[in-house]
Amino acid sequence: MVWATANSNLALVKYWGKAPGGRNRAASASLSVTLDGLTTIAGVEERSDLETDRVEWVPPGPTQAVTEYVATVRRELGIERPVSVVLTSNFPVAAGLASSASAYASLASALAAAAPNRLATTEIAALARRGSGSACRSLFGGFVEWRPDGGDDAVHQVAAQEHWALAILVAVTREVPKSVGSREGMKRTAATSPYYEAWLSTSTADLEAARAALAARDLGTLGPIAERNALRMHAAAIAADPPLLYWEPATIAVMQEVARLRARGVGAFFSIDAGPQVKVLCESADADRVAAALAAVPGVTRVLRSRPGGGPEVLDRPPAWATAALSGRGGEDSRRAVG
Ligand code: PMV
Repeated sequence: MVWATANSNLALVKYWGKAPGGRNRAASASLSVTLDGLTTIAGVEERSDLETDRVEWVPPGPTQAVTEYVATVRRELGIERPVSVVLTSNFPVAAGLASSASAYASLASALAAAAPNRLATTEIAALARRGSGSACRSLFGGFVEWRPDGGDDAVHQVAAQEHWALAILVAVTREVPKSVGSREGMKRTAATSPYYEAWLSTSTADLEAARAALAARDLGTLGPIAERNALRMHAAAIAADPPLLYWEPATIAVMQEVARLRARGVGAFFSIDAGPQVKVLCESADADRVAAALAAVPGVTRVLRSRPGGGPEVLDRPPAWATAALSGRGGEDSRRAVG
């Protein structure tokens, strides 16, 4: 069995819309921070006793899309026999916490490690992207840019995780799978939102400004860019037909709390993906105070703490947190065959 871990990532300038031609190419560039400790591990094993590939989530979760992905990608990589795949994350999956990014980044890394030929990181990123666009950014640690105009090597690290000891807090408001996934959400926004073109055209300027603020470690400049970029993405989505409203009342309450923190002189800024959770950026020195304020907002069920993290790791055996999760699963005979 080959194991690979990958962290999730948070886009400071977001990807919301695909370029034509398939394979999850982006319509606009995005910039993310890889999230330490929000991790998925994938285990891949070639199996001569299986006739089809099989995928298992621990705890159990939807497997059809992942199984189709595995069946295609492992053949392309020259893995001739079917594989058995197991995936587990140390944070709630499918709840707007970008679990698909860490899932496909870990899976692509594990499949690449099991393949007969070595792949470059950019090639593994291109494979991960086909599962979930944002997953290509999780192939790198620190701060990562994904440009739509540079071919398969369009994803690269712009700064290592040591560049900036930011704190990234996740105020969790509702731990249920989102009703409309990002694939469908992007498609609907592009097809029906009168603000989609405006979203795309403003996003390039956001990216340039965010890159400069990141280089200067200037949170007072980067924070407002990240906030307005997230709000513009949501504005375009809300204006789709039928509308895409990912927020809960507590999502708005957290945004208001972040504004109150700022009014009291604390540099905190939010971002929101296709779900109701709110991610908050602040300097690490302010993290305790900001986390306490977020935890006190009615409707916030818990606050996860992260910081810039590293890229995928290929391992011989799972780390302790994953061993504990995986030991709870059924044995060989009781594994659910899926596909
Ligand atoms: O990669 P997907 O298909 O899960 O889409 C990600 C969309 C956002 O998380 C909302 C934005 C982003 O750039 O990560």
